[in-house]
Amino acid sequence: MAADALFQPFDFKGLKLPNRVVMAPMTRSQSPAGVATPEVAAYYRRRAEGQVGLIISEGTGPERPAARNDPNVPAFHGEESLDAWKDVIDEVHAAGGLMAPQLWHVGAIRSHREDWAPAGPYDSPSGISRPGHKFGEGMSDADIADAIDAFARAAADSQRLGFDAVELHGAHGYLIDQFFWEGTNVRADLFGGPELPQRACFAAEILKATRAAVGPDFPIMIRVSQWKQQDFNVKLADTPKAMEAWLMPLVEAGADAIHCSQRRFWEPEFEGSDLNFAGWAKKLTGAVSITVGSVGLTGDFIAGYGGEVSKPASLDELLRRLERGDFDLVAVGRALLQDAQWAVKIHEGRTSELMDFDRSAMATLN
Ligand SMILES: Cc1cc2nc3c(=O)[nH]c(=O)nc-3n(C[C@H](O)[C@H](O)[C@H](O)COP(=O)(O)O)c2cc1C
Repeated sequence: MAADALFQPFDFKGLKLPNRVVMAPMTRSQSPAGVATPEVAAYYRRRAEGQVGLIISEGTGPERPAARNDPNVPAFHGEESLDAWKDVIDEVHAAGGLMAPQLWHVGAIRSHREDWAPAGPYDSPSGISRPGHKFGEGMSDADIADAIDAFARAAADSQRLGFDAVELHGAHGYLIDQFFWEGTNVRADLFGGPELPQRACFAAEILKATRAAVGPDFPIMIRVSQWKQQDFNVKLADTPKAMEAWLMPLVEAGADAIHCSQRRFWEPEFEGSDLNFAGWAKKLTGAVSITVGSVGLTGDFIAGYGGEVSKPASLDELLRRLERGDFDLVAVGRALLQDAQWAVKIHEGRTSELMDFDRSAMATLN
């Protein structure tokens, strides 16, 4: 099957994407003291030159003392970090690409490093890093207000620097997702409660503040996942009705696109239908939807972290779903980390030139 469906243009809220290929956000930890280097800019530029329709940056921290848990993860505040991001977007634009930063607050996922600590205490809804693991106090009202404002300021800065869109990282068990998850959010105030829409309030407030900061026309994406790094088996929403109650408030608050993180895109979300997460998100909310998870590769990314080598895999099942209209855009992670020319090779049918993914690629900015 030719991959034509992947190379159809898409109008994303006035943003003219040349095709459906999105580079998934991937932390590279190559930005010392939170400042992206020229090598980082060149790495993104190569993906723009390689026909990626929309690049989403690695997660980058808004201005909270412990938004980042690694000093080599780029910050998205402060003159030096923002100047470096300006160089990144200018390089990407010079190559004809489009790009959004992914705003990422790690919340209760603390640093693995013993030689470094963030400038302040870790933020979290309830001082719980995973069910049963209490490590401190939850955020105060003032902390929450400041965090919401920090996301909105970072989004406004992304627009000012010339980025084309912005993504909020609401997935994988980090701060925003810690609010979604009852296992880490036991607050009894406006930001917590037994119902998912109550626990979605933090994300919705960030989206409202972000929308107010960037105006009506700037595309805002939010990345969400059922699974958590703390527990791959969690399902925040176990029925379509629950999923609608979770996602609809996010769309109403200002999200234009839902980026639905799965480890394997082909897995159905609920029994009785083969629709995946992105398929349900689009059906239930009408928002633009982005799928992700082992596109073009045999093994998933968590196995990849563990050292499993993934081989190139057929795109037929992905294309079947894309052509059926299940989702609008397709995010590709490791295949693009490994090979900046991945999209070109797919477009031109050069499948014999596709590369294996080997975790050694994670150590360099090729
Ligand atoms: C090295 C690496 C770093 C990642 N960092 C992030 C990140 O900063 N933010 C995020 O939302 N997901 C992150 N992810 C997850 C990817 O965006 C993507 O969802 C995952 O790799 C599955 O896509 P793939 O199978 O095409 O690689 C990362 C994945 C990898 C391999």
